[in-house]
Amino acid sequence: MIKLRELTSGYGKLKVLFNINMEAESGRITVVVGPNGAGKTTLLNSITGLATIHSGKVYFQDIDVTGLPPHKVSRLGLSYVPQMGNVFSNLTVEENLRVAGYMLDQKELLDRLELVFGMFPVLKNFKARRAGTLSGGERRMLAIGMGLMKKPKVMLLDEVTTDLAPIYVKKVLEKVVELRDELKISVILVEQYAIRALQIADKAYLLVSGTIRYEGNPQDLLSHREFSKLYLGIS
Ligand SMILES: Nc1ncnc2c1ncn2[C@@H]1O[C@H](COP(=O)(O)OP(=O)(O)O)[C@@H](O)[C@H]1O
Ligand SMILES: [Mg+2]
Repeated sequence: MIKLRELTSGYGKLKVLFNINMEAESGRITVVVGPNGAGKTTLLNSITGLATIHSGKVYFQDIDVTGLPPHKVSRLGLSYVPQMGNVFSNLTVEENLRVAGYMLDQKELLDRLELVFGMFPVLKNFKARRAGTLSGGERRMLAIGMGLMKKPKVMLLDEVTTDLAPIYVKKVLEKVVELRDELKISVILVEQYAIRALQIADKAYLLVSGTIRYEGNPQDLLSHREFSKLYLGIS
């Protein structure tokens, strides 16, 4: 679905990622874990046209999208839920969803709203509330719902569980599983806090200092030496 080939990228002259090879398969959850500053967000920015590509290629469904501007990548069916959320605090929940679905015609818009409200009953209950009054977990649900309004084939989720209470981490990750199993959306999930995310992943990558240190089975990553050192304090 998404393939990175020998990708070196960053911002302007700065290089953040080095020679990245990665593959996110269709209908799967691919998780990228790594410590703060590893380059996880830059990886997503490189796919969505927000970073500078120094060398290498980005493919979306075998189409070369290297260097395409964000709106063109998005139009191919890719939805990016950024780390900080792209929720408008002054708008209501429903207005946020409608803004996110601006390119749909009226019927598509209503169908999608129904789908999002069906998946996130909490958003339906709070549809007239200003987004700024939602809890952190509810806001993440709204950000994912907004991503869904674009009818994506692929969703890129940047740290959607960070800073949430454990109960919300569980809820958000359950929704990520629903994206895969019920909506058949391919997901790339980037997380600093790794253990929970690895439990729902089909494939895992460990990113440290801009390079891939592990690629493979999510369960095996738990016993990987560098992972243990970084995450469990075992050396
Ligand atoms: N817009 C930017 N311009 C310049 N440098 C950036 C920008 N965003 C991130 N960086 C740098 O890139 C490196 C990786 O950052 P980032 O991709 O955000 O890591 P992560 O998401 O894993 O925490 C950091 O050293 C950070 O300072
Ligand atoms: Mg980040």
